Amino acid sequence: MSQTTSVVMQQTVYLNGEFLPMSEARISTQDRGYLFGDGVYEVIPVYQKKLFAWQEHLQRLKNSLQAVSITNPLTDSEWFKLLSDLIDRHDWQDQFIYLQVTRGIQMVRDHMPADCLTPSIYAYTNPLKPLAKDVVENGIKLVSLEDIRWLRCDIKAITLLPNVMMKLAAKQQNTDDAVLITRDGFVSEGTASNLFIVKDGALFTPPNSHKILPGVTRIVIEKVATNHHIPMIEQELTLTDLQNADEIWLTSSTKEALPVTQLDGKPVGTGQPGAVWQLMRQHYQTYKQAFIADYNQP
Ligand code: PDD
Repeated sequence: MSQTTSVVMQQTVYLNGEFLPMSEARISTQDRGYLFGDGVYEVIPVYQKKLFAWQEHLQRLKNSLQAVSITNPLTDSEWFKLLSDLIDRHDWQDQFIYLQVTRGIQMVRDHMPADCLTPSIYAYTNPLKPLAKDVVENGIKLVSLEDIRWLRCDIKAITLLPNVMMKLAAKQQNTDDAVLITRDGFVSEGTASNLFIVKDGALFTPPNSHKILPGVTRIVIEKVATNHHIPMIEQELTLTDLQNADEIWLTSSTKEALPVTQLDGKPVGTGQPGAVWQLMRQHYQTYKQAFIADYNQP
Protein backbone atom coordinates (compact mmCIF):
# COMPACT_ATOMS: atom_id res chain seq x y z
CA MET A 1 0.00 0.00 0.00
CA SER A 2 1.43 3.44 -0.94
CA GLN A 3 1.93 6.09 1.75
CA THR A 4 -0.86 8.24 0.24
CA THR A 5 -3.26 5.30 0.19
CA SER A 6 -2.55 4.46 3.83
CA VAL A 7 -3.05 8.12 4.91
CA VAL A 8 -6.35 8.21 3.02
CA MET A 9 -7.48 4.91 4.54
CA GLN A 10 -6.95 6.34 8.03
CA GLN A 11 -8.89 9.54 7.41
CA THR A 12 -12.32 9.92 8.91
CA VAL A 13 -15.37 9.58 6.71
CA TYR A 14 -19.08 9.89 7.40
CA LEU A 15 -21.33 6.96 6.56
CA ASN A 16 -24.99 6.68 7.56
CA GLY A 17 -24.87 8.42 10.92
CA GLU A 18 -21.31 7.52 11.96
CA PHE A 19 -17.86 9.02 11.66
CA LEU A 20 -15.30 6.25 11.18
CA PRO A 21 -11.94 5.51 9.50
CA MET A 22 -12.30 5.09 5.74
CA SER A 23 -10.78 1.60 6.04
CA GLU A 24 -13.73 0.55 8.23
CA ALA A 25 -16.52 2.09 6.13
CA ARG A 26 -18.76 -0.61 4.63
CA ILE A 27 -21.78 -0.40 2.38
CA SER A 28 -24.23 -3.16 1.45
CA THR A 29 -23.79 -4.82 -1.95
CA GLN A 30 -27.55 -4.27 -2.30
CA ASP A 31 -27.30 -0.50 -2.06
CA ARG A 32 -29.03 0.90 -5.15
CA GLY A 33 -26.10 3.27 -5.63
CA TYR A 34 -23.84 0.25 -6.12
CA LEU A 35 -26.25 -1.78 -8.28
CA PHE A 36 -27.92 0.96 -10.36
CA GLY A 37 -25.84 4.12 -9.90
CA ASP A 38 -29.08 5.30 -8.29
CA GLY A 39 -27.95 8.39 -6.42
CA VAL A 40 -26.72 11.95 -6.58
CA TYR A 41 -23.68 13.81 -5.28
CA GLU A 42 -22.01 17.13 -4.59
CA VAL A 43 -18.39 18.29 -4.54
CA ILE A 44 -17.96 21.30 -2.26
CA PRO A 45 -14.80 23.36 -1.80
CA VAL A 46 -13.75 24.45 1.68
CA TYR A 47 -11.45 27.44 2.21
CA GLN A 48 -9.88 28.07 5.63
CA LYS A 49 -12.25 25.38 6.94
CA LYS A 50 -15.33 27.27 5.68
CA LEU A 51 -17.80 25.77 3.23
CA PHE A 52 -17.68 27.87 0.06
CA ALA A 53 -20.92 28.82 -1.73
CA TRP A 54 -22.76 26.53 0.68
CA GLN A 55 -26.28 27.74 -0.14
CA GLU A 56 -25.72 27.14 -3.86
CA HIS A 57 -24.34 23.62 -3.30
CA LEU A 58 -27.14 22.76 -0.87
CA GLN A 59 -29.77 24.03 -3.30
CA ARG A 60 -28.30 21.98 -6.15
CA LEU A 61 -28.22 18.88 -3.93
CA LYS A 62 -31.89 19.40 -3.11
CA ASN A 63 -32.72 19.94 -6.80
CA SER A 64 -30.89 16.73 -7.76
CA LEU A 65 -32.63 14.72 -5.01
CA GLN A 66 -36.01 16.06 -6.02
CA ALA A 67 -35.41 15.41 -9.73
CA VAL A 68 -34.76 11.70 -9.07
CA SER A 69 -37.43 11.38 -6.33
CA ILE A 70 -35.07 10.54 -3.47
CA THR A 71 -36.39 11.97 -0.22
CA ASN A 72 -34.00 14.51 1.22
CA PRO A 73 -32.89 12.71 4.40
CA LEU A 74 -31.67 15.75 6.37
CA THR A 75 -32.67 19.32 7.14
CA ASP A 76 -30.51 22.21 5.90
CA SER A 77 -28.96 22.67 9.36
CA GLU A 78 -28.31 18.93 9.72
CA TRP A 79 -26.45 18.93 6.39
CA PHE A 80 -24.40 21.90 7.51
CA LYS A 81 -23.56 20.30 10.86
CA LEU A 82 -22.60 16.98 9.29
CA LEU A 83 -20.18 18.59 6.85
CA SER A 84 -18.79 21.03 9.45
CA ASP A 85 -18.05 18.09 11.78
CA LEU A 86 -16.31 16.29 8.93
CA ILE A 87 -14.19 19.37 8.13
CA ASP A 88 -13.24 19.84 11.79
CA ARG A 89 -11.96 16.29 12.03
CA HIS A 90 -9.21 17.11 9.52
CA ASP A 91 -6.26 19.50 9.78
CA TRP A 92 -6.28 20.75 6.20
CA GLN A 93 -7.32 24.40 5.90
CA ASP A 94 -8.49 24.00 2.30
CA GLN A 95 -10.45 20.85 1.52
CA PHE A 96 -12.99 19.50 -0.92
CA ILE A 97 -15.87 17.42 0.26
CA TYR A 98 -17.43 14.59 -1.70
CA LEU A 99 -21.01 14.01 -0.56
CA GLN A 100 -23.18 11.26 -1.97
CA VAL A 101 -26.79 10.27 -1.34
CA THR A 102 -28.10 7.05 -2.82
CA ARG A 103 -31.68 5.76 -2.77
CA GLY A 104 -30.68 3.14 -0.19
CA ILE A 105 -30.57 -0.61 0.27
CA GLN A 106 -33.12 -2.83 -1.46
CA MET A 107 -32.54 -6.52 -0.81
CA VAL A 108 -34.23 -7.80 -4.01
CA ARG A 109 -32.79 -6.13 -7.11
CA ASP A 110 -35.58 -4.38 -8.99
CA HIS A 111 -35.43 -1.38 -11.31
CA MET A 112 -38.55 -0.16 -9.52
CA PRO A 113 -37.50 1.41 -6.24
CA ALA A 114 -39.32 0.01 -3.21
CA ASP A 115 -41.35 2.47 -1.15
CA CYS A 116 -39.86 3.96 2.00
CA LEU A 117 -36.19 3.15 1.40
CA THR A 118 -33.74 4.89 3.72
CA PRO A 119 -31.23 6.91 1.66
CA SER A 120 -27.55 6.09 2.26
CA ILE A 121 -25.34 9.09 2.99
CA TYR A 122 -21.59 9.03 2.47
CA ALA A 123 -19.19 11.96 2.79
CA TYR A 124 -15.44 12.30 2.87
CA THR A 125 -12.97 15.13 2.51
CA ASN A 126 -9.61 15.63 0.83
CA PRO A 127 -7.01 18.40 0.81
CA LEU A 128 -7.74 20.98 -1.86
CA LYS A 129 -4.53 21.83 -3.65
CA PRO A 130 -3.80 24.95 -5.73
CA LEU A 131 -3.44 24.53 -9.50
CA ALA A 132 -0.17 22.91 -10.54
CA LYS A 133 2.53 25.37 -11.70
CA ASP A 134 2.64 23.70 -15.12
CA VAL A 135 -1.11 24.26 -15.64
CA VAL A 136 -0.88 27.92 -14.54
CA GLU A 137 2.02 28.51 -16.92
CA ASN A 138 1.05 26.35 -19.88
CA GLY A 139 -2.66 25.53 -19.60
CA ILE A 140 -4.27 22.25 -20.64
CA LYS A 141 -5.03 20.46 -23.90
CA LEU A 142 -8.56 19.58 -24.99
CA VAL A 143 -10.03 17.37 -27.66
CA SER A 144 -13.58 17.83 -28.93
CA LEU A 145 -15.74 14.73 -28.61
CA GLU A 146 -19.37 13.84 -29.14
CA ASP A 147 -21.31 14.28 -25.89
CA ILE A 148 -22.55 10.72 -25.34
CA ARG A 149 -24.40 11.48 -22.08
CA TRP A 150 -28.12 11.45 -21.29
CA LEU A 151 -30.60 14.30 -21.51
CA ARG A 152 -30.61 15.21 -17.79
CA CYS A 153 -27.06 16.48 -17.32
CA ASP A 154 -28.51 19.13 -14.99
CA ILE A 155 -28.84 16.41 -12.33
CA LYS A 156 -25.60 15.72 -10.47
CA ALA A 157 -26.04 11.96 -10.73
CA ILE A 158 -23.39 9.49 -9.54
CA THR A 159 -23.93 7.56 -12.78
CA LEU A 160 -20.81 8.81 -14.56
CA LEU A 161 -19.87 6.05 -17.00
CA PRO A 162 -20.10 8.26 -20.14
CA ASN A 163 -17.93 10.90 -18.43
CA VAL A 164 -15.35 8.23 -17.58
CA MET A 165 -15.39 6.91 -21.16
CA MET A 166 -14.92 10.39 -22.62
CA LYS A 167 -12.12 11.16 -20.16
CA LEU A 168 -10.39 7.93 -21.26
CA ALA A 169 -10.88 8.84 -24.92
CA ALA A 170 -9.28 12.24 -24.23
CA LYS A 171 -6.29 10.54 -22.62
CA GLN A 172 -5.94 8.16 -25.57
CA GLN A 173 -5.60 11.24 -27.78
CA ASN A 174 -2.85 12.64 -25.51
CA THR A 175 -5.04 15.45 -24.19
CA ASP A 176 -6.09 16.37 -20.65
CA ASP A 177 -9.83 16.53 -21.12
CA ALA A 178 -12.62 16.75 -23.66
CA VAL A 179 -15.00 19.50 -24.68
CA LEU A 180 -18.34 17.89 -25.46
CA ILE A 181 -20.44 18.57 -28.54
CA THR A 182 -24.10 17.57 -28.30
CA ARG A 183 -26.09 15.89 -31.05
CA ASP A 184 -27.62 19.25 -32.03
CA GLY A 185 -24.12 20.58 -32.77
CA PHE A 186 -23.61 22.84 -29.75
CA VAL A 187 -20.92 22.83 -27.11
CA SER A 188 -22.14 21.64 -23.72
CA GLU A 189 -19.27 21.47 -21.19
CA GLY A 190 -16.20 19.44 -20.13
CA THR A 191 -16.36 15.92 -18.69
CA ALA A 192 -16.38 17.37 -15.14
CA SER A 193 -16.51 21.14 -15.64
CA ASN A 194 -18.36 24.00 -17.31
CA LEU A 195 -16.93 25.84 -20.27
CA PHE A 196 -16.32 29.52 -20.98
CA ILE A 197 -14.75 31.32 -23.90
CA VAL A 198 -13.36 34.83 -24.09
CA LYS A 199 -13.88 36.81 -27.28
CA ASP A 200 -12.97 40.49 -27.61
CA GLY A 201 -12.83 40.91 -23.83
CA ALA A 202 -16.28 39.37 -23.13
CA LEU A 203 -17.08 36.03 -21.51
CA PHE A 204 -19.44 33.58 -23.22
CA THR A 205 -20.85 30.38 -21.75
CA PRO A 206 -23.70 28.05 -22.77
CA PRO A 207 -27.00 28.78 -20.99
CA ASN A 208 -28.21 26.45 -18.24
CA SER A 209 -30.37 23.65 -19.64
CA HIS A 210 -30.76 19.88 -19.36
CA LYS A 211 -27.53 19.61 -21.40
CA ILE A 212 -25.17 20.92 -18.70
CA LEU A 213 -24.65 20.87 -14.95
CA PRO A 214 -25.55 24.22 -13.38
CA GLY A 215 -22.08 24.75 -11.99
CA VAL A 216 -21.58 26.63 -8.75
CA THR A 217 -18.18 27.91 -9.92
CA ARG A 218 -20.01 29.22 -13.00
CA ILE A 219 -22.25 31.27 -10.65
CA VAL A 220 -19.18 32.60 -8.79
CA ILE A 221 -17.46 33.52 -12.08
CA GLU A 222 -20.60 35.40 -13.10
CA LYS A 223 -20.59 37.35 -9.80
CA VAL A 224 -16.88 38.16 -10.07
CA ALA A 225 -17.27 39.19 -13.72
CA THR A 226 -20.20 41.47 -12.84
CA ASN A 227 -18.25 43.05 -9.94
CA HIS A 228 -15.38 43.85 -12.29
CA HIS A 229 -17.45 44.93 -15.30
CA ILE A 230 -16.38 42.01 -17.48
CA PRO A 231 -19.35 41.34 -19.78
CA MET A 232 -20.71 37.78 -19.48
CA ILE A 233 -23.12 36.49 -22.10
CA GLU A 234 -25.01 33.18 -21.94
CA GLN A 235 -25.44 31.80 -25.42
CA GLU A 236 -25.13 28.56 -27.36
CA LEU A 237 -21.59 28.02 -28.69
CA THR A 238 -20.34 25.94 -31.60
CA LEU A 239 -16.99 24.29 -32.18
CA THR A 240 -16.22 27.13 -34.64
CA ASP A 241 -16.78 29.65 -31.82
CA LEU A 242 -14.24 27.72 -29.77
CA GLN A 243 -11.77 27.60 -32.66
CA ASN A 244 -12.06 31.40 -33.05
CA ALA A 245 -11.96 32.16 -29.31
CA ASP A 246 -9.22 34.27 -27.72
CA GLU A 247 -9.36 32.06 -24.61
CA ILE A 248 -11.13 28.93 -23.39
CA TRP A 249 -11.61 28.02 -19.72
CA LEU A 250 -12.98 25.01 -17.89
CA THR A 251 -14.47 25.75 -14.46
CA SER A 252 -15.21 23.54 -11.46
CA SER A 253 -15.20 23.55 -7.67
CA THR A 254 -11.88 21.74 -7.42
CA LYS A 255 -10.04 23.66 -10.18
CA GLU A 256 -11.78 27.08 -10.18
CA ALA A 257 -10.91 28.22 -13.74
CA LEU A 258 -8.47 26.25 -15.86
CA PRO A 259 -6.90 27.84 -18.93
CA VAL A 260 -7.13 25.77 -22.13
CA THR A 261 -4.28 26.46 -24.51
CA GLN A 262 -4.78 23.77 -27.13
CA LEU A 263 -7.93 22.45 -28.84
CA ASP A 264 -7.82 19.53 -31.26
CA GLY A 265 -4.06 20.01 -31.70
CA LYS A 266 -4.29 23.74 -32.52
CA PRO A 267 -3.36 26.66 -30.22
CA VAL A 268 -6.17 28.56 -28.52
CA GLY A 269 -5.56 32.31 -28.98
CA THR A 270 -1.86 32.93 -28.40
CA GLY A 271 -1.38 29.35 -27.19
CA GLN A 272 -0.69 30.64 -23.65
CA PRO A 273 -3.05 31.20 -20.69
CA GLY A 274 -4.88 34.41 -21.58
CA ALA A 275 -4.93 37.89 -20.02
CA VAL A 276 -8.62 37.69 -19.04
CA TRP A 277 -8.01 34.34 -17.33
CA GLN A 278 -5.09 35.89 -15.39
CA LEU A 279 -7.35 38.75 -14.34
CA MET A 280 -10.21 36.42 -13.36
CA ARG A 281 -7.80 34.26 -11.38
CA GLN A 282 -6.71 37.31 -9.32
CA HIS A 283 -10.29 38.55 -8.83
CA TYR A 284 -11.42 35.03 -7.88
CA GLN A 285 -8.74 34.86 -5.15
CA THR A 286 -9.83 38.28 -3.85
CA TYR A 287 -13.46 37.10 -3.82
CA LYS A 288 -12.41 34.04 -1.77
CA GLN A 289 -10.45 36.20 0.69
CA ALA A 290 -13.49 38.45 1.16
CA PHE A 291 -15.70 35.37 1.64
CA ILE A 292 -13.35 34.10 4.39
CA ALA A 293 -13.12 37.51 6.08
CA ASP A 294 -16.90 38.15 6.03
CA TYR A 295 -17.93 34.57 6.77
CA ASN A 296 -21.20 34.17 8.66
CA GLN A 297 -22.24 30.67 9.61
CA PRO A 298 -25.68 29.92 8.09
N1 PDD B 1 -17.63 18.25 -11.19
N2 PDD B 1 -20.14 19.98 -15.23
C1 PDD B 1 -19.90 18.73 -14.80
C2 PDD B 1 -20.28 17.60 -15.70
C3 PDD B 1 -19.29 18.50 -13.55
O1 PDD B 1 -19.06 17.24 -13.13
C4 PDD B 1 -18.90 19.63 -12.78
C5 PDD B 1 -18.24 19.46 -11.44
C6 PDD B 1 -19.17 20.91 -13.26
C7 PDD B 1 -18.81 22.15 -12.48
O2 PDD B 1 -19.64 22.31 -11.36
P1 PDD B 1 -19.12 23.06 -10.05
O3 PDD B 1 -18.61 24.36 -10.50
O4 PDD B 1 -20.33 23.18 -9.22
O5 PDD B 1 -18.06 22.23 -9.42
C8 PDD B 1 -19.80 21.05 -14.48
C9 PDD B 1 -17.14 17.94 -9.87
C10 PDD B 1 -16.07 18.87 -9.40
C11 PDD B 1 -16.78 16.48 -9.83
O6 PDD B 1 -17.55 15.69 -10.37
O7 PDD B 1 -15.77 16.11 -9.21
